[in-house]
Amino acid sequence: AKTTVNERTENIPIYECQRETPLQHHNEHITHALEILAKEADFRNDDINYSRALAFRRAACVFKCLPSRVEGVQEIQSLHNIGSHVKRIVEDILDNGYSSEAEKTENNDWFKTMMTFTGVFGVGPAIADKWYRLGLRTIEDLKIEQTLPNKDERISTGLTFHDDLTLPVLRSEAEALADLIRCELDTIDPQYQLVVTGGFRRGKDCGHDVDILLTHPVEGKEKGILEDLLHRLDRQGRLIYGKREQSTWNDGVLQGENIKGQYLKSTLDHFEKWIGIMKLDKKCRQCCLNYGLNSNEKQQELLHSSLDMKKVSHLRPDTMSHMDPKNNSTKRKCPSSSSEDRGTNDRTWYARRVDLIVTPTSQFYYALVGWTGSKHFNRSLRLYAQKELHMKLTSHALYDTTKKHLIPANSEQEVFKNLHLRYLEPVERNC
Ligand code: CTP
Ligand code: MN
Ligand code: MN
Ligand code: MN
Repeated sequence: AKTTVNERTENIPIYECQRETPLQHHNEHITHALEILAKEADFRNDDINYSRALAFRRAACVFKCLPSRVEGVQEIQSLHNIGSHVKRIVEDILDNGYSSEAEKTENNDWFKTMMTFTGVFGVGPAIADKWYRLGLRTIEDLKIEQTLPNKDERISTGLTFHDDLTLPVLRSEAEALADLIRCELDTIDPQYQLVVTGGFRRGKDCGHDVDILLTHPVEGKEKGILEDLLHRLDRQGRLIYGKREQSTWNDGVLQGENIKGQYLKSTLDHFEKWIGIMKLDKKCRQCCLNYGLNSNEKQQELLHSSLDMKKVSHLRPDTMSHMDPKNNSTKRKCPSSSSEDRGTNDRTWYARRVDLIVTPTSQFYYALVGWTGSKHFNRSLRLYAQKELHMKLTSHALYDTTKKHLIPANSEQEVFKNLHLRYLEPVERNC
């Protein structure tokens, strides 16, 4: 007998970190609209809109973990986190095939400009909005405008390499970069460990950057590794731009931070890190765009999509097929596209965003969870830890605020165990 979505979903737990959220799900038609509205609220950049964005994201997360496609509004009556506004949006989608509110937002001049400008490395909603008010609309406008962005080295670098940086980073590139770094680490001390985290670890096939976590099994030996590594990469001519931040961690950090304050909102941590742009050989792009991208229009849409790079994964059913070197049929040449060649014909590399994070081994598994994400998953974990356990979770540690001590973890499984949560694989943390 056919069970309704309702019957199967009445037991969806409240916290996102208590449920499996896969990368590919059944309700893209709904989450797409909700994520646009969330993004728009983010751009408004104030407390009220922060809550609005969160409400849209929470609702989207519920749809992502449903076992089938929602076809009727009665199916969502008993679900959590679906308010009257979201119900109206879903109804509109079910009646008309799309959300007129989301479509209106997508076509809005301010929204479109904010999408473009916040897509520039170093630019957040405040700067993007300021430029909009000055009448600027396009990347070309920014490049021409002499006085505004060029004062900030980060932004001027972001503009210089904008074409490269909006071309999604492929998994093959993340792997090539990791190999390259592993090679350098091995010559320094083979005990250094490296993990590619972020979206790639959650199973995405492409992303906006490569996130790499570095550690050493002997506590303290991780210090200095970044300086050494960056020096070597620099000598190879691989660094375009980067900012190294020193570790600001000390034992007082956890206890000192306001538990009800900022930490749920921000992803700030205290690790030593490098946020930068590196050169990566073009040949590392072993594109596997073998998912029926016949029209050039569709390719353009994908390559320029900065809102939701997961789109590429959604279109490719087998996310790992290209990992098999024997499977030649999946290793195709990238389809030619103007964005692959725009002004880059004369060089052999692309500029790629890279985050390198150094963690002491005692904090490694909390860092791994934190840097694997998703952002919303982290937020959910931290809120859950605070509300349900009176504990404070960060990318450094889990702190019991009543007993006033840290709870160590020697695996990711242990992080979940310490939180009294069922273990979720990285690919199940895509909320
Ligand atoms: N993160 C963090 N502290 C930061 C920046 C990011 O803890 N200062 C975490 C985020 O919460 C996220 C993960 O590190 O879970 C990766 O961040 P990011 O690269 O921004 O997002 P991805 O999920 O990797 O998305 P993409 O594939 O587009 O890079
Ligand atoms: Mn989408
Ligand atoms: Mn990332
Ligand atoms: Mn990142």
